[in-house]
Amino acid sequence: MSKLNIRNVLPRDLDHISQIECLCFPAAEADSKKVFKERIAIFSEGFFIAELDGEIIGLINSGITNDNNLKDNFFKTMDLHIPGANNIVIFGLDVHPNYHGSGYGKELMNHFIEYARKSGRKKVLLTCKKHLIKYYEKFGYVNEGLSNSTHGGATWYDMYLVL
Ligand SMILES: CC(C)(COP(=O)(O)OP(=O)(O)OC[C@H]1O[C@@H](n2cnc3c(N)ncnc32)[C@H](O)[C@@H]1OP(=O)(O)O)[C@@H](O)C(=O)NCCC(=O)NCCS
Repeated sequence: MSKLNIRNVLPRDLDHISQIECLCFPAAEADSKKVFKERIAIFSEGFFIAELDGEIIGLINSGITNDNNLKDNFFKTMDLHIPGANNIVIFGLDVHPNYHGSGYGKELMNHFIEYARKSGRKKVLLTCKKHLIKYYEKFGYVNEGLSNSTHGGATWYDMYLVL
């Protein structure tokens, strides 16, 4: 079995990342190529991709904030990104559908948590749908209940992990 390689994103990854995002999320929830480009330019340090034999099969990306919840506007612009702030928010964890259930999401998340801890953040924040609450609880995330988020017209739950 091939070993997963996790590395920081590069500008050349943009098209591939956008394709995986569109496979993983409905159109109303998928992040735009424009915002991915901005995240890569501003905060590639907190943006990781996973490769199998040189092929990108997953990603996790983030921004920094002093807020305690992920604000919907942060999905659209990195204007809310405050380098040096306390908390790190995950915008998305994506694994290509062909590779779901192989442990790659877990590897990406564990890599990310380790990075967040080493970089001195206090909490990791994310929003997720009801069916994934248990998935994130396995990493130690705490469910804060229904979120104010209306991102993509869906119902979201706020979760946080104390580092
Ligand atoms: C959610 C997602 C990232 C999970 O990635 P994955 O690689 O398929 O998950 P893994 O194989 O790493 O699963 C790790 C563990 O979680 C469990 N798990 C997977 N999906 C789960 C779910 N929906 N609920 C509870 N547990 C789940 C697995 O059984 C495994 O458990 P184990 O460690 O005890 O064996 C992936 O399904 C995905 O990209 N979905 C579409 C995009 C999405 O919804 N992203 C999350 C945005 S909030």
